Amino acid sequence: MSDKIVAVVGAGTMGSGIAIVMARSGYRTILNDVDADRVENGLATVRDFLAHSAELGKMSRPEADAAADRLEGSTDLGDLAPADVVVEAVFENLEVKQDLFAKLDSIVSGRTLLHTNTSTLSVTGIASGSSHSERVVGTHYCNPAPLMKLVEVAPGRHTADWALEATREFLTSLNKTSVVTKDRPGFIVNRFLIPWENSVIAALDAGLGTVESIDAAVTGALGHPMGPFRLLDIVGLDIHQQVAMRLYEQLRDPKFYPPPMVDRMVAAGDLGRKVGRGFYDYADSRQLFGS
Ligand SMILES: NC(=O)c1ccc[n+]([C@@H]2O[C@H](COP(=O)([O-])OP(=O)(O)OC[C@H]3O[C@@H](n4cnc5c(N)ncnc54)[C@H](O)[C@@H]3O)[C@@H](O)[C@H]2O)c1
Repeated sequence: MSDKIVAVVGAGTMGSGIAIVMARSGYRTILNDVDADRVENGLATVRDFLAHSAELGKMSRPEADAAADRLEGSTDLGDLAPADVVVEAVFENLEVKQDLFAKLDSIVSGRTLLHTNTSTLSVTGIASGSSHSERVVGTHYCNPAPLMKLVEVAPGRHTADWALEATREFLTSLNKTSVVTKDRPGFIVNRFLIPWENSVIAALDAGLGTVESIDAAVTGALGHPMGPFRLLDIVGLDIHQQVAMRLYEQLRDPKFYPPPMVDRMVAAGDLGRKVGRGFYDYADSRQLFGS
């Protein structure tokens, strides 16, 4: 177990997943949100995931209990004062993120690493909210964070070399693979994943196959661990739509524009696993990060 303290701000989908990764790796973890119900839901998600991991034999029961004990909830940013690393996973909104980093300036120490999990915003733009932009680093976890190995690391314009190195060491301690990329829209993965997912959805809409047959074709031909529709259901159709639109707005390339089927599914409320229905029906299954 490490004596380092990690804080995750934003207890939604990504924040709770990232908190699992931290607590499981031996860090005392503070899960903070402005909304007390979100904190409670986030803590429950983490505990459920750890208990489920023990049931599946992925960790022992004492390990799962110890990880759960390392976790605490918070609605007061002042609780983050002792944190060595703060990971921001709040709404994808530049002003909200800048405001948070400005507030953190007067709370955390001068060596605390400040990480942002933004998918589509500029790391440099977010860091400009802080008077310590040298220690702000983009760390883009893939969803579901507890299961996916990759974290994309994007230094901002003023990120110091020591902060980048310390960030990569920290990610290694989480058993993550980090790849360094540029602070550009979509980083590496979404730059090709979003257009590819859009084309797969368009192929479904054109009747080239069913949800099941296209997923089977992709897993069988490309060796992916899950098909694109399973993945989109985990990510959420609303999230795919938002990310695709934001990348389209910045890159002005039509291949990022979400196809009409996405709009129809979002309008119908078929958002994926989180609501029990997306491309597949999940009425009877557990909602634990696709496990
Ligand atoms: N969902 C994904 O697939 C995914 C993948 C990678 C990165 N991201 C990025 O991660 C971030 C979070 O996304 P999400 O899907 O978890 O969102 P979410 O809506 O599930 O959760 C966001 C949480 O932030 C909280 N919040 C908002 N403002 C806050 C503040 N000032 N202080 C504390 N908490 C605050 C909200 O109450 C909410 O609980 C976004 O930047 C998103 O782009 C999302």
